[in-house]
Amino acid sequence: MNVPTGPLYVGQALSRVDAGRKVTGAADYAHDRLPEGVGHAVLVGSPVAKGRIVVVDAAAAESVPGVLAVVTHENAPRLNKVERVMDLFAGQSPQENFPPLQGPEVHYAGQVVAMVVAETVEAARFAASRLRIEAETDPGAATDLDTALPRAYDVPQFFGQDTRTRQGDPEAALASALVVVRQTYTTPIEHHAAMELHGAVAAWEGGELTLYEPTQWVGGASRTVAAALGVPAESVRVVNRFLGGGFGGKGMAKMHSVVAAAVARELGRPVKLTLTREQVFPLGGSRPATRQEVALGAERDGRLIAIEHESWSTTSEVDTYLETCGFATRELYACPNVTTAHHAVPVNTGTPCPMRAPGEAPGSFALESALDELAHGLGLDPVELRLRNYADLEPGHGRPWSDKNLKECYARAAQAIGWAKRDPCPRAQRKGRKLVGLGMATAIYPVFQVAAEARARLLADGTAVVSSATADIGTGTYTIMTQIAADRLGLLLDAVRFELGDSDLPRAPAAVGALTANSVGPAVASACDAVRRRLVRLAVGDGASPLANWPEERVVVAAGRVQATDDPARGEAVSAVLRRHGLAHLEEEGRFAPGGWWQTHGLQTWGAQFAEVAVDEDTGEVRLRRVASAFDFGRVLNPKTARNQLVGGILFGIGMALLEEASFDPQSHRPLNAGLGGYLVPVQADVPEVEVIMLDKPDWVASPSLGAKGVGEIGNVGIAAAIANAVFNATGVRVRDLPITPEKLLTGLL
Ligand code: MOS
Repeated sequence: MNVPTGPLYVGQALSRVDAGRKVTGAADYAHDRLPEGVGHAVLVGSPVAKGRIVVVDAAAAESVPGVLAVVTHENAPRLNKVERVMDLFAGQSPQENFPPLQGPEVHYAGQVVAMVVAETVEAARFAASRLRIEAETDPGAATDLDTALPRAYDVPQFFGQDTRTRQGDPEAALASALVVVRQTYTTPIEHHAAMELHGAVAAWEGGELTLYEPTQWVGGASRTVAAALGVPAESVRVVNRFLGGGFGGKGMAKMHSVVAAAVARELGRPVKLTLTREQVFPLGGSRPATRQEVALGAERDGRLIAIEHESWSTTSEVDTYLETCGFATRELYACPNVTTAHHAVPVNTGTPCPMRAPGEAPGSFALESALDELAHGLGLDPVELRLRNYADLEPGHGRPWSDKNLKECYARAAQAIGWAKRDPCPRAQRKGRKLVGLGMATAIYPVFQVAAEARARLLADGTAVVSSATADIGTGTYTIMTQIAADRLGLLLDAVRFELGDSDLPRAPAAVGALTANSVGPAVASACDAVRRRLVRLAVGDGASPLANWPEERVVVAAGRVQATDDPARGEAVSAVLRRHGLAHLEEEGRFAPGGWWQTHGLQTWGAQFAEVAVDEDTGEVRLRRVASAFDFGRVLNPKTARNQLVGGILFGIGMALLEEASFDPQSHRPLNAGLGGYLVPVQADVPEVEVIMLDKPDWVASPSLGAKGVGEIGNVGIAAAIANAVFNATGVRVRDLPITPEKLLTGLL
């Protein structure tokens, strides 16, 4: 009823509504805030990886002109340990459940051991360099997973799911299988490497704290910081309107921000903390290293009869994080006998956290590499192998999918890369003096959906302000929410302003798990629908309106006018209705909560990733020639921002496949490459033509009001395996340990 007709904004490839603010520097990022009287804070990290601080000599630091505070475990404000409540709407979660500076113990190199605050950044840095901290080292530190493997422990549940599952009898099935692939795959610690550094600006007014922190979740940060400080959540307002990259690394609140807030309260002055790039590595979060054992058992025709996927991933000594490598394995292929298991392995690093497609990205490297090994062993085309194991119903549950067009993804991406020309024989294709190969993998990422609230306010001038405490982590939230709101309100795009990134706004979930479009979007739609209905009712109930006594269901709001559906000339401007009623605004709140489809259907997004590589046999250098991928993630709200997410996810996967790896000194266990000079991420020259196909098929089950699922993470799933499989097709060398470096390839080629 009254849904606007005609050309709508949703579905259009619109440029970002915030693009102008970003390119002119008007966008106010957290680190841009400089409150009156701000003191500048720097952190000092532990030089040892395991042990304790035995000497703190702050005299020289304190004597530096302009120094306001030198805070160590000997004089730090007391902070509470915050329990993790993994409710992405109302919960709270520190990235590391270990308040800093509360004691002398050290559990990883770079752990916060002091904060120095001064009138200027320069004075703070100089003072920090004069702070004398001596630590003693305990034996037994480890930063690599294999060394620490005997310390592995189990975590029954993670992200709300059992970490162990068992269906059928995989051991018996493997024993009876005609063909078995059993291999171990490993991936290193990786970092988000967001351009924007971590940190916070903390400003108190009376008992009220405003914290400007680059975060994907202002609500969760507010509750976490309040709990750590022991103050009511209402007294902590977290503001963050723009984010210079998050990828999960800014999804959970950071304890160093709590220290900045506590010190600001003691000093009676605002405090601004910006980590150095080097400090972001131990303190900003990471993807853990993984060791994954995969066993596949199949019939001669390629039908899977058993899948085992057991993984170990690193966590810190102070908190538990788990890389859920096997979660997607449960959902992907039709197979009667499946087990998955996960274990945490504590090492001396900072606590890991979600990083783009947490679980699925490394998990799909292992599973989809193993499938490629199976296809090769059977002499079966890798796409055909996947089609023979296509799950028409959700494995393990037998539920129908909300929607699944994965076969079309395989077909269209295969067509785009020219898969038909692939020679299944390794080392059979050459281009000049380089070996050329093609590889593919499946991508899968779950639909997450969480409660959300939004407010829509239609103003007397015919413009609207719509808001929700969500985040735009570079994904395009400002833009798609503006599109949804403009359509539902019947206004022109320019007449709508969307506000986010403030914990005082209506509550929204963490902007993680590709859930924002399909959680906040429906809340925005609902708030706007309510405003539009009130507006129409006002018009038809008003004797002075051209629509007086017109049936409500035959009235639309479009392009800023309230008008008769079949007689657009009969109507008036939205602003005229409000003015005549003397209303400054019409305001409504909308709330969304996931519905019954969560019990009745399997909910996933799908994709097929294809890559072509050229390998130099003499140097082991891998160059990507092309990537072509197709994705099915429901209706495409904005092809431009969606494509940007998919290409970004694929770039993440290229880094994972070929470049990214955190290294540690084997003696001191300090990071060796904590910087963008040493931690390699793909640059333009590493990235070939990336063709992205979006099926754009609305999923009205998983998303009754929008037809849209999520697109932020799936681009990063399967791409590392597609590249590894292409490298095998090119060279005959199977690298099961990421990244695929020239050294590893040469070892295989020699
Ligand atoms: Mo994403 S790793 O859930 O921000």
